[in-house]
Amino acid sequence: MHIWGWMSPVELEWLGEQAAKMNSVVEVGCLHGRSAFAILSACPGPVYCIDPWDDVKDECYGSFMGSCGGFENLRAIRGLSPAATSEVDGKVDMTFIDGDHSYDSVVADIEAWLPKTRELICGHDFYDGPDPGFPDVATAVKEHFGDRFAVAPGTSIWSVEL
Ligand SMILES: C[S@@+](CC[C@H](N)C(=O)[O-])C[C@H]1O[C@@H](n2cnc3c(N)ncnc32)[C@H](O)[C@@H]1O
Repeated sequence: MHIWGWMSPVELEWLGEQAAKMNSVVEVGCLHGRSAFAILSACPGPVYCIDPWDDVKDECYGSFMGSCGGFENLRAIRGLSPAATSEVDGKVDMTFIDGDHSYDSVVADIEAWLPKTRELICGHDFYDGPDPGFPDVATAVKEHFGDRFAVAPGTSIWSVEL
């Protein structure tokens, strides 16, 4: 929680618990590194952190690296998903999607990373109640996975075990 972002303590705890069981993780959309820090701290293997960090002054990238750059398992990929799939060799155990929240992008991320993910695909900002939050995320997840997904209690994280 010392890193700026929107992920809640319960969400960070859930991410850490999952990442601890995985030998490799992709995160799409890292910003300042709040969720990345939780994943990097827990996962014993490589964590591919994908984000363009494209603000003009590089402040976001600098802040991400200031918080997460010391992790030996960090593999930072400065670029856009889904194109960045080509920079990750083979498959990873877990993919966490928190990049562009528009419908087309969420669909593109799911379609790109699903074949490269072995155990768990998940993402942030699934809202399905009176406060729609990012409605495109829920629409894309429901369309793609039907009733196969779960939402972790007390969070807005959707996930599908593969
Ligand atoms: C909601 S923020 C991520 C928050 C972060 N997970 C955290 O814990 O604070 C979204 C991030 O996705 C990045 N982004 C947007 N489109 C992207 C794409 N196509 N591929 C990768 N990252 C993307 C943005 O640059 C931004 O940093």
